[in-house]
Amino acid sequence: MPKIVELHHPLAKHHLAILRDHTTESVLFRNQIRLLSMLLAVRATEDLSLATTEIQTPLTRMRAEKIAQRIAIIPILRAGLGLVEPILELIPSAEVWHLGMYRDEETAKPIEYYCKLPKDNPAQVGFVLDPMLATGGSIRVAVAALKRWGVHDVRVLSVIAAPEGIHALHEEHPDVSIYVGAVDQELNDQKFIVPGLGDAGDRIFNTKR
Ligand code: PRP
Repeated sequence: MPKIVELHHPLAKHHLAILRDHTTESVLFRNQIRLLSMLLAVRATEDLSLATTEIQTPLTRMRAEKIAQRIAIIPILRAGLGLVEPILELIPSAEVWHLGMYRDEETAKPIEYYCKLPKDNPAQVGFVLDPMLATGGSIRVAVAALKRWGVHDVRVLSVIAAPEGIHALHEEHPDVSIYVGAVDQELNDQKFIVPGLGDAGDRIFNTKR
Protein backbone atom coordinates (compact mmCIF):
# COMPACT_ATOMS: atom_id res chain seq x y z
CA MET A 1 0.00 0.00 0.00
CA PRO A 2 1.46 3.43 -0.93
CA LYS A 3 1.86 5.76 2.01
CA ILE A 4 2.32 9.44 2.70
CA VAL A 5 4.44 9.63 5.85
CA GLU A 6 5.47 12.79 7.70
CA LEU A 7 8.08 12.49 10.45
CA HIS A 8 6.71 13.50 13.84
CA HIS A 9 9.70 12.28 15.80
CA PRO A 10 11.03 14.91 18.24
CA LEU A 11 14.54 14.53 16.78
CA ALA A 12 13.19 15.27 13.29
CA LYS A 13 11.49 18.43 14.57
CA HIS A 14 14.64 19.49 16.42
CA HIS A 15 16.96 19.00 13.45
CA LEU A 16 14.50 20.61 11.06
CA ALA A 17 14.42 23.73 13.24
CA ILE A 18 18.21 24.08 12.90
CA LEU A 19 18.03 23.32 9.17
CA ARG A 20 15.42 26.01 8.51
CA ASP A 21 17.15 28.74 10.51
CA HIS A 22 18.60 31.33 8.13
CA THR A 23 21.72 31.73 10.32
CA THR A 24 22.65 28.06 9.85
CA GLU A 25 25.85 27.92 7.77
CA SER A 26 26.50 25.38 5.01
CA VAL A 27 28.64 23.05 7.13
CA LEU A 28 25.87 22.68 9.73
CA PHE A 29 23.15 22.68 7.06
CA ARG A 30 24.79 19.67 5.39
CA ASN A 31 24.96 17.91 8.73
CA GLN A 32 21.27 18.51 9.38
CA ILE A 33 20.42 17.15 5.92
CA ARG A 34 22.51 14.11 6.77
CA LEU A 35 20.69 13.49 10.07
CA LEU A 36 17.26 14.01 8.55
CA SER A 37 18.14 11.71 5.63
CA MET A 38 18.85 8.92 8.08
CA LEU A 39 15.62 9.48 9.98
CA LEU A 40 13.72 9.43 6.68
CA ALA A 41 15.53 6.34 5.47
CA VAL A 42 14.72 4.42 8.63
CA ARG A 43 11.00 5.05 8.07
CA ALA A 44 11.14 4.40 4.33
CA THR A 45 12.85 1.02 4.70
CA GLU A 46 10.71 -0.49 7.47
CA ASP A 47 9.15 -3.06 5.17
CA LEU A 48 12.15 -4.15 3.10
CA SER A 49 12.46 -7.90 2.64
CA LEU A 50 15.06 -9.90 4.52
CA ALA A 51 16.76 -13.17 3.65
CA THR A 52 17.97 -15.59 6.28
CA THR A 53 21.63 -16.47 6.24
CA GLU A 54 23.87 -18.57 8.46
CA ILE A 55 26.66 -16.69 10.26
CA GLN A 56 29.26 -17.52 12.87
CA THR A 57 29.48 -15.22 15.90
CA PRO A 58 32.51 -15.43 18.20
CA LEU A 59 30.41 -17.86 20.29
CA THR A 60 28.27 -19.94 17.99
CA ARG A 61 26.59 -20.34 14.64
CA MET A 62 23.24 -18.63 14.17
CA ARG A 63 20.69 -17.77 11.57
CA ALA A 64 20.68 -14.03 10.90
CA GLU A 65 18.83 -11.76 8.47
CA LYS A 66 20.14 -9.44 5.79
CA ILE A 67 18.52 -7.16 3.21
CA ALA A 68 17.40 -9.30 0.31
CA GLN A 69 16.31 -6.73 -2.25
CA ARG A 70 18.29 -4.93 -4.91
CA ILE A 71 17.99 -1.27 -4.00
CA ALA A 72 18.73 1.82 -6.07
CA ILE A 73 18.94 5.36 -4.77
CA ILE A 74 18.37 8.14 -7.24
CA PRO A 75 19.42 11.63 -6.14
CA ILE A 76 18.12 14.59 -8.14
CA LEU A 77 21.08 16.92 -8.76
CA ARG A 78 22.12 19.05 -7.17
CA ALA A 79 20.44 19.12 -3.81
CA GLY A 80 19.61 15.40 -3.72
CA LEU A 81 23.34 14.68 -3.45
CA GLY A 82 23.14 15.76 0.19
CA LEU A 83 21.10 12.65 1.01
CA VAL A 84 23.28 10.09 -0.76
CA GLU A 85 26.14 9.42 1.66
CA PRO A 86 24.03 9.03 4.82
CA ILE A 87 21.67 6.64 3.05
CA LEU A 88 24.59 4.68 1.59
CA GLU A 89 25.89 4.25 5.12
CA LEU A 90 22.61 2.55 6.03
CA ILE A 91 22.33 0.61 2.75
CA PRO A 92 25.93 0.13 1.55
CA SER A 93 24.93 -2.27 -1.20
CA ALA A 94 22.60 0.24 -2.87
CA GLU A 95 23.24 1.35 -6.45
CA VAL A 96 23.35 5.11 -7.07
CA TRP A 97 21.90 6.50 -10.30
CA HIS A 98 21.93 10.25 -10.86
CA LEU A 99 19.30 12.47 -12.45
CA GLY A 100 20.10 16.10 -13.24
CA MET A 101 17.29 18.62 -13.10
CA TYR A 102 16.85 22.27 -12.28
CA ARG A 103 13.73 24.34 -12.04
CA ASP A 104 13.26 27.06 -14.64
CA GLU A 105 13.10 30.33 -12.70
CA GLU A 106 10.27 31.76 -14.83
CA THR A 107 8.00 28.78 -15.23
CA ALA A 108 9.03 26.64 -12.19
CA LYS A 109 9.02 23.66 -14.57
CA PRO A 110 11.82 21.09 -14.32
CA ILE A 111 14.52 21.09 -16.99
CA GLU A 112 16.22 17.71 -17.27
CA TYR A 113 19.95 17.86 -18.13
CA TYR A 114 21.27 14.45 -17.09
CA CYS A 115 19.63 11.03 -17.09
CA LYS A 116 21.63 7.85 -17.38
CA LEU A 117 19.31 5.28 -15.92
CA PRO A 118 19.80 1.82 -17.41
CA LYS A 119 17.26 0.58 -19.94
CA ASP A 120 16.75 -2.89 -18.45
CA ASN A 121 17.37 -5.08 -15.42
CA PRO A 122 15.62 -2.71 -13.01
CA ALA A 123 16.31 -2.53 -9.29
CA GLN A 124 13.57 -3.96 -7.07
CA VAL A 125 13.21 -0.79 -4.98
CA GLY A 126 14.07 2.76 -6.03
CA PHE A 127 14.40 5.67 -3.62
CA VAL A 128 14.16 9.12 -5.22
CA LEU A 129 16.10 11.65 -3.14
CA ASP A 130 15.46 15.39 -3.17
CA PRO A 131 15.34 17.55 -0.06
CA MET A 132 12.59 19.75 -1.55
CA LEU A 133 9.22 18.73 -2.95
CA ALA A 134 7.76 22.10 -4.01
CA THR A 135 5.46 21.86 -7.05
CA GLY A 136 6.57 18.21 -7.29
CA GLY A 137 7.51 18.72 -10.95
CA SER A 138 11.09 17.47 -10.59
CA ILE A 139 10.15 14.41 -8.55
CA ARG A 140 7.30 13.53 -10.91
CA VAL A 141 9.75 13.47 -13.82
CA ALA A 142 12.17 11.34 -11.75
CA VAL A 143 9.47 8.85 -10.77
CA ALA A 144 8.37 8.52 -14.41
CA ALA A 145 12.00 7.81 -15.40
CA LEU A 146 12.27 5.09 -12.74
CA LYS A 147 9.05 3.51 -13.95
CA ARG A 148 10.36 3.53 -17.55
CA TRP A 149 13.40 1.66 -16.24
CA GLY A 150 10.91 -0.87 -14.84
CA VAL A 151 11.12 -0.21 -11.10
CA HIS A 152 7.84 -1.31 -9.51
CA ASP A 153 8.49 -0.15 -5.95
CA VAL A 154 9.31 3.57 -6.06
CA ARG A 155 9.60 5.61 -2.86
CA VAL A 156 10.26 9.34 -2.51
CA LEU A 157 12.31 10.87 0.30
CA SER A 158 12.11 14.63 0.81
CA VAL A 159 13.07 16.74 3.79
CA ILE A 160 10.32 19.31 3.33
CA ALA A 161 7.30 19.41 1.05
CA ALA A 162 4.46 21.69 0.08
CA PRO A 163 0.92 20.26 0.21
CA GLU A 164 0.47 21.22 -3.47
CA GLY A 165 3.48 19.13 -4.51
CA ILE A 166 2.44 16.10 -2.49
CA HIS A 167 -1.04 16.29 -3.97
CA ALA A 168 0.26 16.55 -7.56
CA LEU A 169 2.74 13.71 -7.05
CA HIS A 170 0.17 11.45 -5.43
CA GLU A 171 -2.36 12.19 -8.16
CA GLU A 172 0.08 11.33 -10.97
CA HIS A 173 1.72 8.40 -9.19
CA PRO A 174 -0.73 7.01 -6.61
CA ASP A 175 1.36 3.85 -6.26
CA VAL A 176 4.39 5.73 -4.93
CA SER A 177 5.07 6.10 -1.20
CA ILE A 178 6.18 9.55 -0.05
CA TYR A 179 8.29 10.12 3.08
CA VAL A 180 8.80 13.73 4.16
CA GLY A 181 10.37 15.38 7.18
CA ALA A 182 7.64 18.03 7.29
CA VAL A 183 4.71 19.18 5.21
CA ASP A 184 4.85 22.97 5.15
CA GLN A 185 2.09 25.51 4.80
CA GLU A 186 2.06 26.37 1.10
CA LEU A 187 3.89 27.56 -2.02
CA ASN A 188 4.29 31.31 -2.44
CA ASP A 189 3.84 33.23 -5.72
CA GLN A 190 7.31 32.17 -6.89
CA LYS A 191 6.53 28.53 -6.04
CA PHE A 192 8.89 28.48 -3.07
CA ILE A 193 7.94 26.42 -0.04
CA VAL A 194 6.80 28.57 2.90
CA PRO A 195 7.99 28.67 5.63
CA GLY A 196 10.56 26.39 4.00
CA LEU A 197 14.32 26.59 4.30
CA GLY A 198 15.34 28.65 1.26
CA ASP A 199 17.22 27.02 -1.61
CA ALA A 200 18.54 23.66 -0.43
CA GLY A 201 21.06 23.32 -3.27
CA ASP A 202 22.60 26.71 -2.55
CA ARG A 203 22.67 26.09 1.19
CA ILE A 204 24.27 22.63 0.84
CA PHE A 205 26.92 23.78 -1.62
CA ASN A 206 27.43 27.32 -0.26
CA THR A 207 26.60 28.95 -3.59
CA LYS A 208 24.10 31.57 -2.41
CA ARG A 209 24.71 34.91 -4.19
C1 PRP B 1 15.09 22.67 -6.37
C2 PRP B 1 15.03 21.49 -5.42
C3 PRP B 1 14.23 20.47 -6.18
C4 PRP B 1 13.26 21.33 -6.95
C5 PRP B 1 11.95 21.34 -6.23
O1 PRP B 1 16.09 22.45 -7.32
O2 PRP B 1 16.29 21.01 -5.04
O3 PRP B 1 15.02 19.67 -7.06
O4 PRP B 1 13.81 22.65 -7.00
O5 PRP B 1 11.00 22.05 -6.96
P1 PRP B 1 9.75 21.36 -7.66
O6 PRP B 1 9.15 20.39 -6.69
O7 PRP B 1 8.84 22.54 -7.92
O8 PRP B 1 10.22 20.72 -8.93
P2 PRP B 1 16.80 23.65 -8.08
O9 PRP B 1 16.08 24.03 -9.33
O10 PRP B 1 17.03 24.78 -7.11
O11 PRP B 1 18.17 23.00 -8.51
P3 PRP B 1 19.44 22.63 -7.60
O12 PRP B 1 19.07 21.43 -6.76
O13 PRP B 1 20.48 22.32 -8.63
O14 PRP B 1 19.79 23.82 -6.76
